[in-house]
Amino acid sequence: MNKALHVVILAAGAGTRMRSAKLKVLHEVAGRAMVDHVYQLAQSLNPSQITLVYGHQGDQLQTHFAAEAINWAEQKQQLGTGHAVQQAVPFLNDDEDVLVLYGDAPLVQTHDLSKLGGKQFVLTAHLNNPTGYGRIIRNGDHIEAIVEQKDANETERQIQEINSGIIQAPAKLLKGWLKRLSNNNQQQEYYLTEVIGLAAQDNTPFSAVQLADANAVKGANDMQQLAELEDIFQQRQRQQLMQAGVRLIRPGSVDVRGSLACGQDVVIDKGVLFEGHNELGDNVKIGAFAVVKNCHLAADTVVEPHSMLDGVTTTGPCSIGPFARLRPGTKLATGSKVGNFVETKKAQLGQNSKASHLTYLGDAVIGNNVNIGAGTITCNYDGMNKFTTTIKDGAFIGSDSQLVAPVTVGKNATIGAGSTITKDTPDEQLTLSRSRQKSVKDWQRPRKK
Ligand code: UD1
Ligand code: CA
Repeated sequence: MNKALHVVILAAGAGTRMRSAKLKVLHEVAGRAMVDHVYQLAQSLNPSQITLVYGHQGDQLQTHFAAEAINWAEQKQQLGTGHAVQQAVPFLNDDEDVLVLYGDAPLVQTHDLSKLGGKQFVLTAHLNNPTGYGRIIRNGDHIEAIVEQKDANETERQIQEINSGIIQAPAKLLKGWLKRLSNNNQQQEYYLTEVIGLAAQDNTPFSAVQLADANAVKGANDMQQLAELEDIFQQRQRQQLMQAGVRLIRPGSVDVRGSLACGQDVVIDKGVLFEGHNELGDNVKIGAFAVVKNCHLAADTVVEPHSMLDGVTTTGPCSIGPFARLRPGTKLATGSKVGNFVETKKAQLGQNSKASHLTYLGDAVIGNNVNIGAGTITCNYDGMNKFTTTIKDGAFIGSDSQLVAPVTVGKNATIGAGSTITKDTPDEQLTLSRSRQKSVKDWQRPRKK
């Protein structure tokens, strides 16, 4: 049996190198705060407790995690990573193992840590450019000390094995070492890394666990590093998608901010962005430069280029775009089509119903085999309230019509082009509301005097 695991997440740093009003660990990678990735990792390890060390702009963090069961340890002054862990000590039980994670290093994954059990370790990696990181001074598998960039001499700076920041140790021992920290270094901070040297002096050294994937340990101290983390994260997701059989025509240009589940033979063209939770059925095609957010698209749905979909459900093969904007509550049935420059919101289109061009459909319930002509507008809003437009099976709406809701267009009804419909229209009949066309004989254009 492993001992209980207590995860301590450090997130109190000011993050000055970000030059942002937003707390560093709340900056996002793949659409989620860095600290969310770290928190999710912590949770995946089945910890007994999670303690979050906060300080600088801590209110932002407390609001962010308001719903979570977290021990909040305040670090009033940011005197270093060791000092930060000292603030968590009151929450640590002697018989636990303590795992320290950094809120600004969001790429570590569960499988990087889950096999390590009750080991006392530092997670390390080999970096071609180790600048800025603490360097690992090894003695075989054990670590003699970690030297920070700013304190390192020339020889030590040549070392390419770096400290990820992630360490694990028995709580009782850790508490002892934390008491002995000094701030006798370049930055006059209490370094957590000094613990590693103290442990070696006590003949209870930390072992180095080097990750094969060096990218996983990278942290973000500035916007450039944040962009690098985004790249690594996106690349990782693309690899997973392609391994699962998804065809990414230009992988480097496709980003996923959230989750994406795909059936077989899904094709995603250049420049597509996914946000939130998306599910794509077999043979779904997403055209170039589409944005797809929180959608559930049935098999054989085709999304043409430059379309924006948010909260869309399709229940069968259908066609969307190009240049369509589908907003939450849009539901499309088999054989339906929403074409270019059509906007929908809370609109259902039944089987084989089509709105091919230049239309706004809001709060609309549309039956099967309906044709919506170009320029049709559902007038769903009176400035205060929203109303529903119902269009029954087989109706034909002539171009440039306005349907002033609440209103119902009857079954197989035809609406003449250019009509403003304010009352329900009967089944099967033609309804139109426009002045008759007339021509004036012998009329002459005015002339310049
Ligand atoms: C730290 C390590 C370095 C390691 C690198 C990995 C130390 C002394 N250095 O350097 O060896 O290679 O991480 O990314 O540990 N924090 C607090 N309170 C503080 C200071 C920091 O909570 O007083 C938090 C920060 O919010 C951040 C984390 O600790 O989440 C790391 O702090 P940071 O200042 O970024 O350390 P690095 O200089 O990157
Ligand atoms: Ca850092």
